[in-house]
Amino acid sequence: MCGIVGYVGPRESVPILIEGLRKLEYRGYDSAGVAVHEKGETRVVRCQGKLANLEKQLTVTKLTGSVGIGHTRWATHGRPSETNAHPHRVGGVSVVHNGIIENHMILRQRLMATGRKFSSETDTEIVAHLVDAELKAGVKDLGDAVRNALKQVEGAYALVVLSDSHPDRLVCAKVASPMVLGVGEGENFVASDIPAILSHTRNMIFLEDGQVAELTAQRIAITDLAGRPMSPPVKSVVWNSTQAEKNGFKHFMLKEIHEQPRAVTDTLRGRIELEQHDALLDEVQLDPATIKKIIIVACGTSNHAGMVGKFMIEQLARIPVECDLASEFRYRDPIVGPGDLVIAVSQSGETADTLAAVKEAKAKGARILSIANVVDSSIPRASDGALYTHAGPEIGVASTKAFTTQLIALALIALHLGRKNGKLSKEAAKQFIDELLQLPIKMKEVADQAAPLQVLARRYGNARDFLFLGRGINHPIALEGALKLKEISYIHAEGYSAGEMKHGPIALIDEHMPVVVIAPKGPGYEKVMSNLTEVKAREGKIIAIATRGDQEIGSIADEVILIPECASVLSPLLTVVPLQLLSYYVADFKGTDVDQPRNLAKSVTVE
Ligand code: G6P
Repeated sequence: MCGIVGYVGPRESVPILIEGLRKLEYRGYDSAGVAVHEKGETRVVRCQGKLANLEKQLTVTKLTGSVGIGHTRWATHGRPSETNAHPHRVGGVSVVHNGIIENHMILRQRLMATGRKFSSETDTEIVAHLVDAELKAGVKDLGDAVRNALKQVEGAYALVVLSDSHPDRLVCAKVASPMVLGVGEGENFVASDIPAILSHTRNMIFLEDGQVAELTAQRIAITDLAGRPMSPPVKSVVWNSTQAEKNGFKHFMLKEIHEQPRAVTDTLRGRIELEQHDALLDEVQLDPATIKKIIIVACGTSNHAGMVGKFMIEQLARIPVECDLASEFRYRDPIVGPGDLVIAVSQSGETADTLAAVKEAKAKGARILSIANVVDSSIPRASDGALYTHAGPEIGVASTKAFTTQLIALALIALHLGRKNGKLSKEAAKQFIDELLQLPIKMKEVADQAAPLQVLARRYGNARDFLFLGRGINHPIALEGALKLKEISYIHAEGYSAGEMKHGPIALIDEHMPVVVIAPKGPGYEKVMSNLTEVKAREGKIIAIATRGDQEIGSIADEVILIPECASVLSPLLTVVPLQLLSYYVADFKGTDVDQPRNLAKSVTVE
């Protein structure tokens, strides 16, 4: 999510750190900072906002020294501010960190009980405290102090530690967040992503989960968390800098589609309570006893997430939910007021229409909860509570991982409301949680099916129109599939409820019309099958998204893309992935500007 760069060697570190952070700017961030060893002491400079602010600050506070760490932060815990920016310094220990410390609340309380004081709202500061506590307790080796500290930490991290007590080295570690070491001559580097250090060396070590590396100018020593030596291979990276930014993928959108299993894991992280079979959503304080009805407001892809959320909440918590396009909401004098919960869904947190809807609902006395990917953006700020998705920065204009993480946030809300009002039994909740936790693996399985979707893209990529059909909870996914195709391939596409086909779109169907049908096993399956016979009778070309093991669908569909079995209420998280890939490969086949499609913007701040 955020960017990390570290350097140890004979050169001045600040220019290397800034240059490296600049190479990671494309990922998006809201604050930045560096820490440099200087004559026995580490000095830290941090700033809210862009790297230019940091550079300006560094002309006032000049740092010199040849061992340093730098960071660009994309806020997840705690808003974007100078105090929340990394590096975090506690005692003589400075830390930069990417990822999420899952047990941060317990650790923070434990550390506070020993008299430790916190100066930020971040989970990262905890790591600095833990390492400092180890050193103060007499641990001599910085590597040992970091290993001991990390044994207490649960979650995802890529982190680099600098300590006044060991001025010649950096200690790095990672679990579930990327981290790469650059092997130089008489100097060494560490970064969260290859582009940050590619101009200095192509020899890289990709740290594995649970590994801890100690870097001095002359050597790199790697161990596992127990301190046993490890020797991962040094690999030569042949990518150019643009390829490296996209992690080897041709476009950001494709990279982001493949990041979804990780993004979903991050959004779930720390939010499941396994003993009570509940979702831990302390940040939003939901009480179903005070909620008469829920209204979800959103635009574009986020609106489709909201429509799926309606099914989830109604099914699990039996609370009535309405979905409204934010751009329509306030112009129809909505019936909303005290006792209503309005959920605003927005990846950017800045969409003008959604913000206006929030203000309207608030003025009428409703409680507002927002789901957003950008911490402290306008919509969360205007809300009573915010549930942040942890998708990380999304660069492709067509939303993919932001969408699936919104679905996870809505699923967690549905689970929590259902548990709190007793509509969801322990057993049903347990099963739902099991299914939720299996999603990342299943999503990866689906995303790995590139080849058949590439074939389909070539076969149908010249069509003038596409129809997308789905029922129930997969009706919004039909809308989303059509939207994705329109957005990036410029092919006209319509999403329809399969049951509505006979009331209009059927007139369009002939042998030139590809019809994408979302037909996972579950409620509505038989009905969708009968809609398909109607398509077939008019010689439409059927591309079906179906559940593995479906023996029937192959006899009627021209093409079948299979997804693993899963609970129907969560099936949108799987069915949407092949639709994202289909749109992507059609657009790529047509040679459009996939990441920045014409006329579209990532964040629409005008009404
Ligand atoms: C723009 C983006 C879409 C997004 C919509 C709503 O149109 O291109 O991808 O779905 O805005 O944005 P939001 O940030 O509120 O989710």
